[in-house]
Amino acid sequence: MKVRIDRERCQGHNRCVDMCPGVFDTDELGYAVALAGVVPPEHESDARDAADSCPERAITLDEDGG
Ligand code: F3S
Repeated sequence: MKVRIDRERCQGHNRCVDMCPGVFDTDELGYAVALAGVVPPEHESDARDAADSCPERAITLDEDGG
């Protein structure tokens, strides 16, 4: 599974970081960054929850990637 964050959409709600700190972190401005482009298998469930919970729909998961 690959993860991508739309920087234009992200407003820094940080729900993704709270729900899945193994995949998401914040940059110096408080916006989300992905720690790696490919989500480790053990974090896939949390990554889906994080993507679903983002109010800006800024997180895209590619289930077929990686
Ligand atoms: Fe940004 Fe959504 Fe996370 S707005 S900080 S990607 S919860």
